Amino acid sequence: MASPTVSNRIQLVQGDITRQEVSAVVNAANSTLLGGGGVDGAIHRTGGPAILEECRIIRASPDYKDGLPAGQAVITTGGKLPAAHVIHTVGPIWHGGQQGEPELLANCYHNSLRLAAEHQLASVAFPGISTGVYGYPKKEATSIAVREVCQWLSENQFPQTVVFVTFDDESRRLYEQEL
Ligand code: APR
Repeated sequence: MASPTVSNRIQLVQGDITRQEVSAVVNAANSTLLGGGGVDGAIHRTGGPAILEECRIIRASPDYKDGLPAGQAVITTGGKLPAAHVIHTVGPIWHGGQQGEPELLANCYHNSLRLAAEHQLASVAFPGISTGVYGYPKKEATSIAVREVCQWLSENQFPQTVVFVTFDDESRRLYEQEL
C-alpha cells in the first residue's frame, strides 16, 4: 500500500495541548527546564512532579549543567498527561529576526521530530513554539513549523502523525493557510 501522503499525516487541533492523546507532546520550555508559564506551566501542572524530576536529572548531567540551549530538545515521561512522553524544546526569543531566530526555531522542530523518530513514536503534538512569551511573529513561526514538519515527514516514517495544536483563532487561521 502506498504510504499516506504527508498531508494525511498532519492534523490541526485548537485546544489545550495537555489534553492531546498522542505519544508525545512538545513543551515550549525555557533553558532551565524547571518550568514556567504558558505551555510549560500547563504541562508541569497537569503532568505532575514526575516530569520535573526527570528534567532535574537531565539538568544534573554534564551536557546540560548550563541549561538546554535554544533549538535543542530532550525527552521525559509525560507523567499524568494522556501523552506518555514530553519532548522539551527551547524556542528562540524574538529579537527582530537578525540573530538566528529562524534557524533556531527550525531546529526546535527538527530536533523534536528526530527524538520522536528515535523513539519510534506514533504521534507528536506541537504548540506554537516561541509565539507566546518569546514573541516570535506567528505568521513567520507557522511557516517555519509547517515547512520543517512537511520536510521531515516526507523523508521519515516516524512519527507517523503530527498534530499542530493552536490556542487561539489567529494561530488556527495561520496554520490553515499554511497547510
Ligand atoms: N495549549 C496549547 N497552546 C498553548 C497553551 C496550552 N495549554 N498555553 C499557551 N499556548 C500557546 C500560546 O498561545 C502560544 O501561541 O502556545 C504558544 C507558545 O506560548 P508560550 O507557552 O508562551 O511559549 P513560548 O512563547 O515558547 O515562551 C516560552 O514561556 O512559559 C514560559 O517557561 C516558558 O520561559 C518559557 C517561555
